[in-house]
Amino acid sequence: MGSKIVGLGMHAPHKKRSNYDLEKIVDTTDGWIVERTGIKNRRVSEPGAANSDMALVASQKALADAGVRAEELDIILVGTASPDMVLPSTACFLQAKLGASNAWAMDVVAACSGFLYSLSVADSQIRAGRAKKALVVGSEILSALLDYTDRSTCILFGDGAGAAVVAECDNNEGLLACHLQSDGNLWDLIHIPGPGTINPLTPDLISNRMMYLRMAGNETFKHAVTKMCDVCHKVVAEAGYSFDDLALFVPHQANERIISAIGKRLGITGDRVFINLDQYGNTSAASIPLALAEAKIQGRFRSGDLVLLVAFGSGLTWGAALLRM
Ligand code: UT7
Repeated sequence: MGSKIVGLGMHAPHKKRSNYDLEKIVDTTDGWIVERTGIKNRRVSEPGAANSDMALVASQKALADAGVRAEELDIILVGTASPDMVLPSTACFLQAKLGASNAWAMDVVAACSGFLYSLSVADSQIRAGRAKKALVVGSEILSALLDYTDRSTCILFGDGAGAAVVAECDNNEGLLACHLQSDGNLWDLIHIPGPGTINPLTPDLISNRMMYLRMAGNETFKHAVTKMCDVCHKVVAEAGYSFDDLALFVPHQANERIISAIGKRLGITGDRVFINLDQYGNTSAASIPLALAEAKIQGRFRSGDLVLLVAFGSGLTWGAALLRM
């Protein structure tokens, strides 16, 4: 027995923030952002918006796409670094809003790899016979965690949600191979210092802007390319395929230059690479399900096609999954 994505959905706030809007906030230009990242727009939520409300819309679309009722769900997993509250989990808020009364729910904190980590947990539970249907979500309101005085980070990220319904299937369908990895020694490349036990909530924490995301972009870039290439090789080889067999490559949407460097190294280029970061920016855990759901809407893959997903983010965490759709 295996597990398969049987429904996909996505949602993003209506409000767009363009590079030209950012030019008015920080010392940057549309030209720099497009050339260095490929990003043109990102979506932003209203202050105080609930992450779980955005996740709810994406989840309802995924359930409708799958023809599955919320009460049929055994598990709800939400990959997020921008939860509704510190406690309880955003997954529990989502469960209540969906009326998924028969599920257990938890958040998976793996930054931009959160969706793939969650997908792997769902797959393991289904293979172990402990669940039949799972909802796997990546949802982020990163605009609430950005320092709008730091031009090196605030231009990169955006808000959005993507959801997948995962169900039992035969062994040669669905998730064919998955490999996850992390390296906590490199935690400081991307982090939010507080509030937490090391840096509790104090006036100093606020005045030093320690509640906002910090990233060493250049160093992160190098790790992103090598680590994502490495893990893509692992899953494709493990499943007994080559990169030529792929119908579509859906990489984490952080930077167009990272995606094209990986694509060139793996020999996957042109229409076989899915990119929507120009319109959404980097939506962290939401990036892959949001892209996969859009790819489905655009008819970029068909039933039976091989699709490769790869993620990379804070932790450091990274991973890849090969799917037969
Ligand atoms: O999703 C989690 C994983 N995240 C990633 O994978 C992100 C990886 N990193 C990146 O995507 C890129 O490193 C960035 C887009 C963040 C930065 O691009 P870069 O080509 O690595 O630029 P840089 O950090 O080396 O900075 C080059 C210059 C610097 O100026 P000087 O020192 O050369 O004078 C920066 O101060 O660009 C400057 N700069 C900017 N200029 C205009 C940095 N941000 C901006 C900006 N507008 N927004």
